[in-house]
Amino acid sequence: MTYRIAVIPGDGIGPEVTTEGLKVLKTIEELDPSLSFSFESFPWGCEYYTENGKMMDDDGIEKLKDFDAIYLGAVGFPGVPDHISLWDLLLKIRKGFDQYVNLRPIKLLNGSSTPLKDDPKLRNIDMLVVRENSEGEYAGAGDWLFKGKPEEVVLQTGVFSRKGTERIIRHAFEIAKESGKSLTSISKGNALNYSMVFWDEVFEEVSQDYPEVTTYSYLVDAAAMFFVTDPGRFEIVVTSNLFGDIVTDLGAGLAGGLGLAAGANINPERNYPSMFEPVHGSAPDIAGKGIANPLAAVWSVSQILDHFGHEDWGARVLEAIETVLTEKKANTPDLGGDASTSAVGTELCRVLEEKFKNE
Ligand SMILES: NC(=O)c1ccc[n+]([C@@H]2O[C@H](COP(=O)([O-])OP(=O)(O)OC[C@H]3O[C@@H](n4cnc5c(N)ncnc54)[C@H](O)[C@@H]3O)[C@@H](O)[C@H]2O)c1
Repeated sequence: MTYRIAVIPGDGIGPEVTTEGLKVLKTIEELDPSLSFSFESFPWGCEYYTENGKMMDDDGIEKLKDFDAIYLGAVGFPGVPDHISLWDLLLKIRKGFDQYVNLRPIKLLNGSSTPLKDDPKLRNIDMLVVRENSEGEYAGAGDWLFKGKPEEVVLQTGVFSRKGTERIIRHAFEIAKESGKSLTSISKGNALNYSMVFWDEVFEEVSQDYPEVTTYSYLVDAAAMFFVTDPGRFEIVVTSNLFGDIVTDLGAGLAGGLGLAAGANINPERNYPSMFEPVHGSAPDIAGKGIANPLAAVWSVSQILDHFGHEDWGARVLEAIETVLTEKKANTPDLGGDASTSAVGTELCRVLEEKFKNE
């Protein structure tokens, strides 16, 4: 079986970290003859924008639609406004392929450090945030009235459709049911008196179909506090686009930093390819220095393998990340080491190979 993967390395450290992710996939291909991958790389991003006046080809979505998955590094670079790089590439793909589920695991791996105090209770960080990824606060709806005048007004409208809200909540319930874990909804019904009251109602309605799932519901401000004071209470979490964006960066901060946070943009019906990427951006401050941590991008590779139904390989990659973190032979400076991006990738492949051969 050959899986076709479209690679969009993007900007800054994007190409540096995806190179290591691809190294891991190529190692797996060598170890397991039943698996093979073909890669096609697309040069889209801010450099492409500077040369061509657009972030991706006009028929970019058409070009990507027949791939089994999209592997993305990061986009954004000084000189190109962030709202252009985000809307004209990343969001175009997420929306164009109806990738309405954003899965962001927040797990404190063995060997990884947390800024929380040294209390075993606070090392219990293992949650999966299911973030709505197609509408909500990031629907792009609004208006800019009387621009530049004293009476200037801007409107940024949150869009919560019944279809969009119900499908993400139902998807999260399915994950909770399958994994036997609790489900926590994060919203803000006291202040957002339309959108989040509606969200809470739909959560309550859908919960009736899943009596076996234990549920909790928190306001986002309280949830942010509990992420820090008692992260173990969260298992599966479902939340809106904006809240999910924020709480997962908070989670990343608790679980080893942005260099270790991965995210999958999923079209569950598989009508279109899903897209896998590290949560971090293009990190212009360290780009080109060869010191970016590639582990988040490698974790994305583990998510790709899970998505393809090769959970055994997905788990092995995650274990290899844990070993690299624990052994500390090759860690990048953000984790207190002095290894290069490529040295970490090479060590990870070595660990993977050794583990597989010893199985
Ligand atoms: N998904 C994406 O492509 C995405 C996500 C976020 C930001 N961005 C874009 O990236 C650019 C920079 O944004 P930012 O600085 O706010 O966020 P960032 O994630 O790029 O960087 C934040 C900080 O974390 C560090 N960092 C990030 N990833 C790292 C890694 N793998 N290893 C070591 N250190 C790492 C950076 O050096 C920086 O100090 C902007 O143009 C922004 O729009 C893109």
